[in-house]
Amino acid sequence: MQGFGREVILGVGGGIAAYKSCELLRRLRDHGFGVTVVPTPSSLNFVGSATWEALSGRKVTTEVFESVEEVRHVSLAKKANFIVIAPATADLMARIAAGRADDLLTNVILASNSPILIVPAMHPEMWNDAATKANVATLRSRGYHVMDPDTGALTSGDVGQGRFPETSRILEEFSTVVGTRADLLGKKVLVTAGGTREAIDPVRFIGNQSSGKQGYAIARSAQQRGANVTLISANSSLADIEGIRTLKVESAHQMLEALESEFSQTDILVMSAAVADARPLQVADSKIKKSDYTNISLVENPDILKTLASLRKHQIIIGFAAETSENLEIAQEKMVAKGADILYLNDISGGDIFNSETTHGYILARGKEPQKVAQTTKDTLAHQLLDEALLQLG
Ligand code: CTP
Repeated sequence: MQGFGREVILGVGGGIAAYKSCELLRRLRDHGFGVTVVPTPSSLNFVGSATWEALSGRKVTTEVFESVEEVRHVSLAKKANFIVIAPATADLMARIAAGRADDLLTNVILASNSPILIVPAMHPEMWNDAATKANVATLRSRGYHVMDPDTGALTSGDVGQGRFPETSRILEEFSTVVGTRADLLGKKVLVTAGGTREAIDPVRFIGNQSSGKQGYAIARSAQQRGANVTLISANSSLADIEGIRTLKVESAHQMLEALESEFSQTDILVMSAAVADARPLQVADSKIKKSDYTNISLVENPDILKTLASLRKHQIIIGFAAETSENLEIAQEKMVAKGADILYLNDISGGDIFNSETTHGYILARGKEPQKVAQTTKDTLAHQLLDEALLQLG
């Protein structure tokens, strides 16, 4: 991130995690950013202006009605290339989502056109509340980069999702924001997510553990970069992303059908869904009795990626594979055999990939050396894959 010489506004909300933002401010300065801190008045209960002034080397104000002659909120907004809000409380996000301008920080946000990274931190109950969820969805649909908080122990002694993320994770996200451009404007991106289910009878199915997190992260990232995104979601419990057309399917056949009608108008197809390789030969009309539930004959499902690759014109296709890192060659062969242009080898040697917030593996692209992806967020991987797809689209 060195050398951008960019101006950052660090907005600080009124939560206990405000003290952790002191470290973030120092690291941003280490990376060569000039940082002006704009705390909300209530955040001064946690960290006072003197601390922010000492750490930033700049004067701190929280009031719109100070230095009125320079129209402070507008001048601050104009000067800032990036805004980072850390921590963002539930109340602060609600005010931003509602377009309020009742303190200097929210005035600056409204007056700014720069990329904004929001780092929420709050009690898990508040993070999971429907109102907060709706506000986060609204903010994301408007192009704000809202991080997911970490999961773990909180100041209150409770455990759950709501912790202020580690500084390194925030910086990683921030560097993505710094590099974000509307480079997918006018492009159509089709993403599959989740895992298909193949019915056995009206109550049972063959399914898999895929949460859909990676596919949703790709859809969201593509949307943030200006793409027109359609998401084909199979049995994921994740909330819809505002502004993204989402078609819900259950089985591999339904997924193929949905994709076939969308594919010709698509520029980039991302097959991140876990598709069942086989389905029951027959689906029983009524629930199979215990005594008859002893074996199921299976029949192979169509390979969706391969089928679509054979219909391709200009489209770039990204596939996924779950392998251990030793299987790079197998993955290369899989990419070619299926007709994918890019393949992400999800390195499952460490265990937990399903439902995880992070991932590690290799990005394979035709004619290139495998690119190692060290432990990173699914959002960051999403951007890396989209970067590669754009390169190939030319
Ligand atoms: N895929 C597909 N249609 C299928 C099965 C898989 O389109 N019937 C896609 C997936 O969406 C993914 C890639 O192909 O992009 C995964 O291929 P697969 O051969 O299933 O790889 P693995 O999951 O690694 O499984 P295995 O090595 O066991 O075959």
